[in-house]
Amino acid sequence: MSLIIAIDGPSGSGKSTVSKEVARRLGGEYLDTGAMYRAAAWCALRRDINLDDKDAVTEVVKSMDLRMPLDPDNQRFFCEGKDVTDAIRVSSLSRIVSKVAVNLDVRKELIARQQAIVYSADKIVAEGRDITSVVAPDADVKVLLIASEETRLARRAREVRGGDSQAQMEETRAEVSERDAKDSTVASFMDSREGVTTIDSSHMTICEVVDTILGLIPT
Ligand code: ADP
Ligand code: CDP
Repeated sequence: MSLIIAIDGPSGSGKSTVSKEVARRLGGEYLDTGAMYRAAAWCALRRDINLDDKDAVTEVVKSMDLRMPLDPDNQRFFCEGKDVTDAIRVSSLSRIVSKVAVNLDVRKELIARQQAIVYSADKIVAEGRDITSVVAPDADVKVLLIASEETRLARRAREVRGGDSQAQMEETRAEVSERDAKDSTVASFMDSREGVTTIDSSHMTICEVVDTILGLIPT
């Protein structure tokens, strides 16, 4: 029998860390849908497309050759034959990815690719912003992972800038809060929905969050 675990949440709530660990513990696969939006933005920029030209961006994404890694311990992304693992994480790309993600035709294309992966898997943990609502609304376990804004900013600042001093927090705030605001205009993932368990990770360890999610798997 197949098992689908869907996890949504804002930036820095812990989605990727926790999803990878849940996948490891289950011996299953892991899908990072955010990386697909990042790769789409990278691909459009590489082809010199103006990101405001929605039709041109959509055409790029439809023809994009993207290989998604599904092994939680080997997350290397190849787009157009190039290893883009690091390039899709740089701060300048993080700042523009939402521009591509609010394009509904881009979403349609990437959601179709995500569903093809999720529904052909044996056991998979998929994370993003619209997994519980759009990509896999009939998942076996549906989680909204949240944390207070200050906690999420501090985590991101430590991860990306190596510390959570006031300056590092402010730089991170500019990058993350703006993106959260744009993201919430398309994927209303913060609305509470039936069948979705909200987990506030602000005061939980990674291990506690993982155990809580594993405990939600129907027996
Ligand atoms: P997201 O995928 O939601 O953006 P990440 O999984 O990348 O979030 O987590 C951001 C940072 O916060 C990482 O450095 C991660 O190790 C850390 N982190 C995640 N969950 C927790 C937690 N419950 N407690 C402490 N740190 C956490
Ligand atoms: O690393 P972080 O959690 O901040 O973001 P991410 O998961 O890598 O996603 C990057 C961006 O992709 C988000 O800010 C959204 O704009 C977009 N995204 C989306 O629209 N829908 C998803 N299912 C996943 C990501």
